[in-house]
Amino acid sequence: YEMRNIRLLVICVVALASCTKSTPQRLAEEALPFLETRPAATGRVVEVHLVASPTSLELIDGRKLDVWAYNEQVPGPTIRARQGDTIRVHFRNELPQPTTVHWHGIRLPNEMDGVPGVTQPPIAPGESFVYEFLARDPGTFWYHPHVRGSEQLGRGLYGLLIIEEAELPPVREIVWVLDDWRLDESGQIDSRFVTRGDLAHDGRWGRVITVNGVEAPKIELGAGERVRLRILNAANGRVFRPDFSRLDAKVIAFDGLATARPLSAEGLELAPGNRVDLDLVAPAKPGEQVLIFDRFTRMPNLLAILQAGDAAPDAAVAAPIELDGFVPTWRGAEREGVGLEFRLNAARGGPYGIAWMINEQAMFHDTESPVSEWHEPPYALEAGKWIKLRFTNESPRLHPMHLHGQFFKVVARNGHPVDEAHWRDTVLVRPRETVDIALVPTELGNWMLHCHIMEHQDAGMMTLVAVR
Ligand code: C2O
Ligand code: CU
Repeated sequence: YEMRNIRLLVICVVALASCTKSTPQRLAEEALPFLETRPAATGRVVEVHLVASPTSLELIDGRKLDVWAYNEQVPGPTIRARQGDTIRVHFRNELPQPTTVHWHGIRLPNEMDGVPGVTQPPIAPGESFVYEFLARDPGTFWYHPHVRGSEQLGRGLYGLLIIEEAELPPVREIVWVLDDWRLDESGQIDSRFVTRGDLAHDGRWGRVITVNGVEAPKIELGAGERVRLRILNAANGRVFRPDFSRLDAKVIAFDGLATARPLSAEGLELAPGNRVDLDLVAPAKPGEQVLIFDRFTRMPNLLAILQAGDAAPDAAVAAPIELDGFVPTWRGAEREGVGLEFRLNAARGGPYGIAWMINEQAMFHDTESPVSEWHEPPYALEAGKWIKLRFTNESPRLHPMHLHGQFFKVVARNGHPVDEAHWRDTVLVRPRETVDIALVPTELGNWMLHCHIMEHQDAGMMTLVAVR
């Protein structure tokens, strides 16, 4: 009899202990150690001089194209640092309009985020600004203007920001920056930006597709060589679905951060803003070619040709690339309530005739310098608290929703739980779809939440979330 009582008592105590911890608290605790870890500073400072200016470059198929570029390159120079380094960018604006530089996906102090009227005044033509931050998170990130994105990105302003792991995998790296170009009759960049047509559809889609500024480049690798392929979609609106099914390819990082395990590359989609790192093995036979097509649209587009050269040295074939990632499982997330809902839709009006909105509100960047009015965030999140956010797409268009300053995970689509084994900073919300994401905000400040289709963004599809 006594034994039974004691057993009952033990069971009660155990049950009580696990009851006192609420599910959101348990979910937060699963991710916080990872999110709050800071790398040891290396003491090294990576100094970069970056100038945005109009220039003329041989691009696409070698034609002279009038572009706007960082350091007269499209894509702009790849900024590389090691985790724990300090990055200091001396930026000068030589464009005919104000601009800022936003560091997409990486966590940094809010005042370095490059958002006009939120974290800094726009940088007027002829003016300079110094961006400085610690490279906390290793991975594939990028930079681009946060002013008049349709025109400024559309004319060629974007570049990669690569933060190397303290210990780099022993393979060669290749980067692919994907973009598309809308040209006019003269073969130059069509200067009609944020058109009615763009707004009624999924932004500005151009017919000419490039990888690193070149149309369908032939890329030579050692036969059977293993490489780390970092891909960025820098297009204004186009979604890419690169088909690697004829090769041994695994996703090892998404939106910069390492996946929980290598993932299949089948059906891999990159919405504007998304990045992916692949562990890719080149064709095995010297001379063999594999064509990589984009299959997002019904008509496949040729992206690039992978060609095997001479047999790669054994060392270059080596073991699969291993990255050190942590992704919470967040089991039970589907049973938690939605903390905030963002309904996505459009209405007639606004400066472009159609306004894209989040919960019936449109937000516009004030590009006059200095900023007369600073934006106040309509939404607030509590730091360290797990929360579920819902995007409800009430429109028939695509919206790749991007949150600055925090990493999130998709936990449900149309009410069905999904368990993506990776973090994100941008998620594609399809027509009429509902996407639930979860996060534990850890970075304080006022952060943008917006559609990464530049035309939707310019036409109002932005809001601000404060993390306190
Ligand atoms: Cu890549 Cu606010 O954006
Ligand atoms: Cu959109």
